[in-house]
Amino acid sequence: MGKGFHISKTVGIVGIVLGAGALATIIALSVVYSQEKSKNENEVKPTDAATSAPTTAPSNEPWDQWRLPQTLSPQTYNVTLWPRLKPDPTGLYIFTGMSSVVFRCVEKTNLILIHSNKLNMTKQPTLTALGSKPAPTIESIVMHTKTQYMAIHLKDELAAGESYELYTEFVGELADDLGGFYRSEYNETGVKKVVATTQMQPTDARKAFPCFDEPAMKAVFYITLYHDPATVALSNDEVNVTADGTLVTRTTFAPTEVMSTYLLAFIVSDFGFIEQNMDKLQIRIFARQEAINAGQGEYALNVTGPILKFFEKYYNVPYPLPKSDQIALPDFNAGAMENWGLITYRETALLYDEEISSNGNKESIVTIIAHELAHQWFGNLVTLRWWNDLWLNEGFASYVEYLGADEAEPDWNVKDLIVLNDVHRVFAIDALASSHPLSFKEEEIQRPEQINEVFDTISYSKGASVLRMLSDFLTETVFTQGLQTYLDNFKFSNTAVNGTGTGTSLPKSVQEIMDRWVLQMGFPVVTINTTTGQITQEHFLLDPESKPDRPSEFKYVKKYFERKKKSLLFFTKRKPRGQIFHWVLANINVTGYYRVNYDNDNWQRLLNVLQNSRQSIPVINRAQLIDDAFNLAKAGIIETTLALRTTLFLNSETEYMPWEAALDNLDYFYLMFDRTEVYGPMQSYVGRQVKDLFDYFTSDNKCSDLYNQINALRVACSTGNEECKTLITGWFQQWMANPNVNPIKANLRSTVYCSAIAAGGEGEWNFAWEMFENATIASEKDKLRAALACATEPWLLNRYLKYTLDPEKIRKQDATSTIISIASNVVGQPLAWDFVRANWEYIFKQYGGGSFSFSNLINGVTKRFSTQFELQQLIQFRDDNTHIGFGSGTLAIEQSIERTNANIKWVEKNQEAVLEWFKKPSYL
Ligand SMILES: *[C@@H]1O[C@H](CO)[C@@H](O)[C@H](O)[C@H]1NC(C)=O
Ligand SMILES: *[C@@H]1O[C@H](CO)[C@@H](O)[C@H](O)[C@H]1NC(C)=O
Ligand SMILES: *[C@@H]1O[C@H](CO)[C@@H](O)[C@H](O)[C@H]1NC(C)=O
Ligand SMILES: *[C@@H]1O[C@H](CO)[C@@H](O)[C@H](O)[C@H]1NC(C)=O
Ligand SMILES: *[C@@H]1O[C@H](CO)[C@@H](O)[C@H](O)[C@H]1NC(C)=O
Ligand SMILES: *[C@@H]1O[C@H](CO)[C@@H](O)[C@H](O)[C@H]1NC(C)=O
Ligand SMILES: *[C@@H]1O[C@H](CO)[C@@H](O)[C@H](O)[C@H]1NC(C)=O
Ligand SMILES: [Zn+2]
Repeated sequence: MGKGFHISKTVGIVGIVLGAGALATIIALSVVYSQEKSKNENEVKPTDAATSAPTTAPSNEPWDQWRLPQTLSPQTYNVTLWPRLKPDPTGLYIFTGMSSVVFRCVEKTNLILIHSNKLNMTKQPTLTALGSKPAPTIESIVMHTKTQYMAIHLKDELAAGESYELYTEFVGELADDLGGFYRSEYNETGVKKVVATTQMQPTDARKAFPCFDEPAMKAVFYITLYHDPATVALSNDEVNVTADGTLVTRTTFAPTEVMSTYLLAFIVSDFGFIEQNMDKLQIRIFARQEAINAGQGEYALNVTGPILKFFEKYYNVPYPLPKSDQIALPDFNAGAMENWGLITYRETALLYDEEISSNGNKESIVTIIAHELAHQWFGNLVTLRWWNDLWLNEGFASYVEYLGADEAEPDWNVKDLIVLNDVHRVFAIDALASSHPLSFKEEEIQRPEQINEVFDTISYSKGASVLRMLSDFLTETVFTQGLQTYLDNFKFSNTAVNGTGTGTSLPKSVQEIMDRWVLQMGFPVVTINTTTGQITQEHFLLDPESKPDRPSEFKYVKKYFERKKKSLLFFTKRKPRGQIFHWVLANINVTGYYRVNYDNDNWQRLLNVLQNSRQSIPVINRAQLIDDAFNLAKAGIIETTLALRTTLFLNSETEYMPWEAALDNLDYFYLMFDRTEVYGPMQSYVGRQVKDLFDYFTSDNKCSDLYNQINALRVACSTGNEECKTLITGWFQQWMANPNVNPIKANLRSTVYCSAIAAGGEGEWNFAWEMFENATIASEKDKLRAALACATEPWLLNRYLKYTLDPEKIRKQDATSTIISIASNVVGQPLAWDFVRANWEYIFKQYGGGSFSFSNLINGVTKRFSTQFELQQLIQFRDDNTHIGFGSGTLAIEQSIERTNANIKWVEKNQEAVLEWFKKPSYL
């Protein structure tokens, strides 16, 4: 949109008429709309079932079902939309549209049921027959707001085998609600700008135009967008024709391939872009002009070509579209969305700044890009029939994102990280009695809320873990061959997972094995007893007393072992004389989705190997031994001190993965013990363990492992390493002396900011606050906001807590996470708890309606609770505030009480032994 250029409604319309006669229809539409609006009453106004229907019991009527009947099958849509990027006189942002859908009647019916949500029809819908017989007349139109249908009742029946066209004109709100056709706002060079963009998945295409909004209802889409000449319109396909008017431009896109509604995208913005061609394919990165001018799209552009090339080879199918656009949006709910040919991202997931972004930012950008590009085939070209099978779509992309990222950044060992980021992460959730299987029955997933709930860690991370296991089990060659056959057989159509995730090409025995992982929840712990040679397995539950919601038989691993005896099972070593084996290690590289326990003697032998020749254990398994041991201990299967012993070798370890696994698990020990006498001995133990690592990374300035360098600094400083403190404080002082030049390396900023503010006082805090207020880049703002919570002066933290309720200081969307950051600081914990209790009513009333997450807030503020006293306070808090309520935090309150109880038990059982161990750490 041109600066200072404003279409007043009447002027705008006159200009359009003069500019392009072809625009007559859309103008008529907009005129009709304003007339309708002023009349506020019209003869075709559909009735609303919610107000007119009698309140009887649920019926078997098709419009009361959540799934479309199979009577009609859409073929093509012709959709024209005009988003207004300025509010109308009443302050409402709207879009107007017209759409026709051609569908074939599969089974005769006198009802057209089509999804439509929050759209107001501005004209009587019309039905035309495309065959020789005339179309039946429309008897009535009823909107069903609950099931999100427009029901068109006909006087006669549609004939099976015949095709018809349904035409609608409508208006919808271009709200800032992040769903359907919505608006995103930002400031640039002092001017407020508005972007119209979409997020259809899973069920919001129906909020942009009436459609058969189920993934299996694939069709061809002809898209046209009207927009200001100073803006650019984007959609899934290439632009076919642009007709410039004086005040509005019409952009018509080439028809799409046959595709699902949830993958559509329409965007109007004045963004800039950079581009590159790969063979004939056009690759573009779009973002705010300032971001593009600052070169922030360059990294994404650099990696996209190689990743697309890789997937073309991997799938053995050429990229299915003529162009690939990716765009970063200031307001975006998820991380990214794989719309076919026009992928949308939140800014932090696509934009990279050499000076300011960290290595972690870069790695997450390349993996998210690889994830979305992987969907362009798997998910978009071949689509699951219904959302109950979502895990296959998301699990697959979450697995191959590592393969794609590895292609773009071959030096990073990024493939190994799946074990920390997905396997370990989902183990924590899948070990709960309240977990669920990967696959749902189709009937279980019906309503939009249920569909939304399927997008969880189990679908993404367990899906990825189980597919990685399958690939390893079948071998990569067989796995990709199967995949290529699957894509070739089902392209442009849909599939259903019959129990297993691999289509139809699996041998029965493999299917049987896979079914156990897909249809049952949880995973086993396999116990290998080297004294008897026995292998047993059982359902691994973090709380051994809990009762699983869906008990399942745990016979996962036996068949898997039988087939993979040689390659999987034992990493053995013969002693020169005598003994058959020295030690046993199972689940090499954690390709299997299970935990492993051993008899005590073998654990002891493994600890010796870690200490004396850790290189003979693969680095992923060094992390696994730590993570398995801590979790087995938490479940009461082994001693807690045995878990602690797995961290002893870290004093000579420099690799990231084992350190990260240990620090993740020790976090719980810090939460439970940082206010007890255990804290001192624990700090000095961890400090001694990290000393060599810190020296390693600081002495000769090694950057081979940037992640572990961050760990080294963070842990050394937090355990009181003087050298570390001096180093960090020095950097920060240098910055304070010259605020225009930040000398701190992008990678180390989070850590350095936090440590310097913790070591400093009011001066450091105020300086960081000023830098926070002045920062123009979201990721830098986030780093400073988190670091401000690291202060150790209570009054600074209390002042900061007050700031969280002042939207001028801390944006509403960041209030929860700021309070949680303060609560994670041991000094801030009681202050944050007092603050939340004292202000509950205010917080609840002020923030109750928005995106404020009460559940995260309550969990975050109470996660340290581990005493009877705290338990009583928590119960008191619940009882005192029942009249106000807890909103989305209702369940979290109960979970916090349960967790506090569990923590109390754990501390009682373990504190003494843990204290003794930290005082005298030993292998025995
Ligand atoms: C789509 O609809 C517009 C406006 O009604 C019309 O001009 C255009 O020809 C249609 N396109 C197709 C492919 O039917
Ligand atoms: C649609 O109609 C409802 C009810 O009349 C009204 O409240 C709403 O503002 C309308 N939406 C638009 C975008 O005009
Ligand atoms: C954008 O700028 C306007 C004034 O120019 C200001 O009121 C508004 O708060 C700014 N919005 C954001 C998100 O910074
Ligand atoms: C472009 O539009 C014209 C009609 O305006 C149509 O005949 C042609 O097939 C379209 N081409 C593509 C590539 O979509
Ligand atoms: C992108 O690639 C170019 C050419 O290889 C290189 O000069 C530039 O540094 C790269 N940019 C980023 C951000 O990686
Ligand atoms: C797979 O699903 C189809 C359709 O839902 C069904 O007809 C078929 O029997 C199923 N096959 C198996 C092996 O479950
Ligand atoms: C291993 O087997 C021995 C001998 O039966 C038994 O005493 C021991 O408890 C077993 N250990 C584990 C971890 O199952
Ligand atoms: Zn995905």
